[in-house]
Amino acid sequence: MKSFYATTPIYYVNDLPHIGHIYSTVVTDALTRYRRLVGEKTRFLTGTDEHGQNIEKAAAAQGIAPIELANRVVERYHQLYRTFEIENDDFIRTTEPRHRRGVEALIAKIAAAGDLYTARHEGWYCSSCEAFYTEKELDAERRCPVHGRATTWESEENVFFRLSKYAEPLLAHYEKHPGFVRPETRLAEVVSFVKSGLNDLSVSRSKVKWGIPFPGHPGHVVYVWLDALANYITALGYGGPDDSLYREFWARDGAERVHVIGKDILRFHAVYWPAFLLSAGEPLPTTVWAHGWWLRDAKKVSKSVGNIVRPDHLVADFGADALRYFLLREMAFGQDASFSDEAFLVRYNADLANDLGNTVSRVSTLCRQSFGGTPREVCSDNEVLAAFSDAEREWRAAMADSAFHRAIEAVWKLLTAVNGYVVAKEPWKIRKAEGSDSDRLHRILSAAAEGVRLSAVMLSPFIPATSRKIFAAFGSPAEDPKTEDLAWGRLPVSTPLPETPPLFPRADAEAYFERKDTAMSTNPGAPGGEASLAPTPADDSITIDDFRRVRLRTAKIVEAERVPKSNKLMRLQVEIGGERRQIVAGIAAQYEPEALVGRSVVVVANLKPAKLMGVESNGMVLAAAVGDDGRPVLLDVPADVPSGSVVK
Ligand code: MSP
Repeated sequence: MKSFYATTPIYYVNDLPHIGHIYSTVVTDALTRYRRLVGEKTRFLTGTDEHGQNIEKAAAAQGIAPIELANRVVERYHQLYRTFEIENDDFIRTTEPRHRRGVEALIAKIAAAGDLYTARHEGWYCSSCEAFYTEKELDAERRCPVHGRATTWESEENVFFRLSKYAEPLLAHYEKHPGFVRPETRLAEVVSFVKSGLNDLSVSRSKVKWGIPFPGHPGHVVYVWLDALANYITALGYGGPDDSLYREFWARDGAERVHVIGKDILRFHAVYWPAFLLSAGEPLPTTVWAHGWWLRDAKKVSKSVGNIVRPDHLVADFGADALRYFLLREMAFGQDASFSDEAFLVRYNADLANDLGNTVSRVSTLCRQSFGGTPREVCSDNEVLAAFSDAEREWRAAMADSAFHRAIEAVWKLLTAVNGYVVAKEPWKIRKAEGSDSDRLHRILSAAAEGVRLSAVMLSPFIPATSRKIFAAFGSPAEDPKTEDLAWGRLPVSTPLPETPPLFPRADAEAYFERKDTAMSTNPGAPGGEASLAPTPADDSITIDDFRRVRLRTAKIVEAERVPKSNKLMRLQVEIGGERRQIVAGIAAQYEPEALVGRSVVVVANLKPAKLMGVESNGMVLAAAVGDDGRPVLLDVPADVPSGSVVK
């Protein structure tokens, strides 16, 4: 049996997971689920990168020990992985003893190869990347090419790795294995980087305390990237008492070993990591797959840029599968893509609610209404079967290329074929003319139902929970499919069917944006990022200082008009003391504009500006949420209170 080992980058614990981290993990999960579905033996590793200066600093800023910070963030990752049904076999933390042991073993081999020496190290250093850059890689202000942050000149005595010795062997390896770096365009970047000349790499740090002590160099810790990269093998037991997983998933001939990473860390994976492995005499990964970035406003989504997108509310409102689907369908793997709530909602409604949801519901309803369950046979001579064969071939070819978006498109072709088939055959007419016992009716609906079931099998690596619901809607157990389920004819026959709720209820985009108000999924500036690393308190009490951060003021409404094309939004001009400003409030269904002018209200005066249906809002008007529907009722302010008064 072929073995397939896939890894995500291990994530830093100085930040909470955002959409970019989730993407790498979801992609790796989909890839592993797919390989398992087609019958391979798989192993999936993810984890956290917990050492280094950045973690040290982030923990100090919160007044806690680095390990405490790591524990908190790891807990968030675990929660999130449960929500997203990530089926990793292992989760490695670089602070674990098994990892340290493996790193020590790797360093011992590199040292035995004569590839380590001590020297003074100087250069331009980006503390966010924890990496040195050459002058020519920086811009005129010597800012780092990844973060655009100022670099600093650092100088210290370090242990060096003879990276320069591996330039030729690396180039030879790329030449011999053109699939080593994917996509191909990225390989070209790596080759040109190596050809431009490799300097030896400093692999110890004396200024950093939070790390693995460098063997034989007291006062030094292992450079965080050497420490981190080793995780891919230390998690397999490398250097430990039982290295059977290492032998099975890494060292065995024919074992496939794939690192899924973002393009930001390609050099570490395609140059440094294989050089360490060459030096240690260990096999190299078979493929380093560098995907593109999720962008917002044309910039990489990242904490340092401050345009974080967290998944929380999208998942709460639409379910984790909807976000998995969006991430895998919207981005052509390898290229960059833009994240926006608007694009998400378009895909949700068009693809999930309409195409998938309606097809499932139409076919299962037809079966239920005709037979109270599934048909009594599975017909194997029809156009849907031909469409399935085509779709399956395309789906496999796309997945061999990690082109998730194309694999999903292939399934969509099958769904479209099922729909077209049902429309053309008009089974409802047959039922009327020939009755529910009609052979023709059984055959036609069996083809449609089998087409939908097989679509769900092929979608299971991407949206596993939804696939399970579809199986249940067609009489199969609500379980992840097995390899043998990927074949025509496995639809359970004459099986009663339950009535099932819609898979993806249609979203009212307008209402969604109104309700989201200022709490959009983006968190500009992400000031809450660090604050929310705090453990969730047992109760939700806040301190008086927390409350004081909210500036509440009385304000007088001087103008009011409805926002065009919105049922709920009202554009208000208010005066807060002498200051006039515009606030958009969701009160248009309850209040007439004329009745609002002259009223005094309480507003949150220091809310970050936001756009609601394209209209800028600079604050929020307070209202009581009344009844089950949370109907807003404005809070009144007595007439003798001047506008601009502090409310506390
Ligand atoms: N700890 C290192 C990786 C060590 S691997 C031996 C690291 N960690 S990280 O927390 O910064 O995560 C980086 C990874 O998260 C990227 O390589 C990518 O996989 C993912 N992403 C983070 N932001 C991203 C986007 N905006 N878009 C897509 N993925 C990105 O680097």
